[in-house]
Amino acid sequence: MLWRRMTLVALLAVGIAAMTSSMKATAGENSSSVTFYKDVLPILQKNCQTCHRPGEIAPMSFMTYKDTRPWAKGIKTAAVSRQMPPWFADPNYGHFVNERTLSDAALRTLVAWADGGAVEGDAKDAPPPVKFVDGWSIKPDMVIEMPQDVQLPATGTINYKNILVKVNFAEDRWVVAADLRPGNNQVVHHMRANVRPPDSDFMRNAVPGVAYDDGDPAMGRKDAGIDLLGKFNPGLGAQDFSLFESAKFVPKGSDIVFNMHYTATGKETTDRSRLAIVFAKNPPKYRYYVDEGPTAGNLAIPAGDPNAEVVSEMTAQIDTQLVYMQPHMHLRGKDYEVRLIYPDGKMQTVFRTKWDFNWQIGVDLVKPIPIPKGTRVIGIAHFDNSANNKWNPDPTKLVFWGLQNWEEMQNCFMGYLIDPNFKDVRNIFKRSGPSLLPRSTSGPALSTLVIK
Ligand code: HEC
Repeated sequence: MLWRRMTLVALLAVGIAAMTSSMKATAGENSSSVTFYKDVLPILQKNCQTCHRPGEIAPMSFMTYKDTRPWAKGIKTAAVSRQMPPWFADPNYGHFVNERTLSDAALRTLVAWADGGAVEGDAKDAPPPVKFVDGWSIKPDMVIEMPQDVQLPATGTINYKNILVKVNFAEDRWVVAADLRPGNNQVVHHMRANVRPPDSDFMRNAVPGVAYDDGDPAMGRKDAGIDLLGKFNPGLGAQDFSLFESAKFVPKGSDIVFNMHYTATGKETTDRSRLAIVFAKNPPKYRYYVDEGPTAGNLAIPAGDPNAEVVSEMTAQIDTQLVYMQPHMHLRGKDYEVRLIYPDGKMQTVFRTKWDFNWQIGVDLVKPIPIPKGTRVIGIAHFDNSANNKWNPDPTKLVFWGLQNWEEMQNCFMGYLIDPNFKDVRNIFKRSGPSLLPRSTSGPALSTLVIK
């Protein structure tokens, strides 16, 4: 629908802008004719300013020459190493609506600018400033706000927080779009809003508004059947569930659970974030459902291992279509791959990505991938449990599955299109293969995968 189309148009605009500036850059290759206003600012507008502007997540602004000039060398380094913009998917597998990579041409321009002395140029050459939407980018039918401020410390690592909001939806609802807005842009790194259906034990005894750390016993078990309704990453914007004539289902009596990743800002502060949703006018052709995907609850990562392999598997119980993937690991994660083994034995890699714990990025597929009943979905991850991993909390530990950051996880949240009348959403897939093995002292490795 509307929001997705807007994204595609925006992406095209990015492409054209990048091409134009590259041609200029090539015309004056390794010369100082590359200027901030003419060549660099258009690239920053399209690729960087969503986060690099005052009040947003990045610590420095790239809105003006004065603000950007001191970062010229840093920009070159971050761009060349592909550290920025944050996007880790292997371009050889799949096409994504939310792709965020610098073209080679744009990259060359940034490098030429830094190497040429970060010349300012003529302000007359500047493109018009981008208008950023700081409010809702959808017209909400309903806004759900955390009932009280969450108190946040000035420094240190903040565990993921879970906050229950008693909404108690009065009737079954179909939702076509959702948007999440931080109460405080500087502390909210990313967040999710989950639907807690009335028959779930998840957060059953939680006090509404209280922020529970991941792993707190008061949260109960996060069972299957908890659908992801909305997510927020800096620059992501609203999500549209109607692209494939689809919508999210919120059963009568459901509540909302916010799952928050905060980062400390150096000051004690608070946050109270909000979720906005748009209801469908008509029942959809498909239900858009997100679950935890292939999961290695039996994982074991040996102490010191720089490249520990962990494989998970599940098998489709019905025909469905894959539209979204978001791997999940903790601080030792390195990379994640998703493979499909079809009922006829054909095997195909559909997604590969490097892993960065700080960014938990999900990919929206341009075209749904059919998953016929009987298809095996394989998740293949690697972990660095050596002392060389600067994020590693303890390289001397044999690590098992757990909710805390110093434990590990290996799963890949997935979004599917299913028949709107199919109610048994906890059984779209069943664990299979390596995911059924008893826990050992390593793996389960790829060698445990049975290929007929
Ligand atoms: C999705 C948000 C986002 C986008 C888009 C983004 N950045 Fe960043 N950037 C950040 C955040 C957050 C930090 C600080 C933390 C970090 O380094 O991860 C950062 C840090 C940086 C740094 C400092 C790195 C260091 O070593 O200290 C540079 C340079 C940078 N960004 C350049 C860019 C450029 C150039 C672009 C566009 C081509 C860009 N960023 C796009 C969020 C973003």
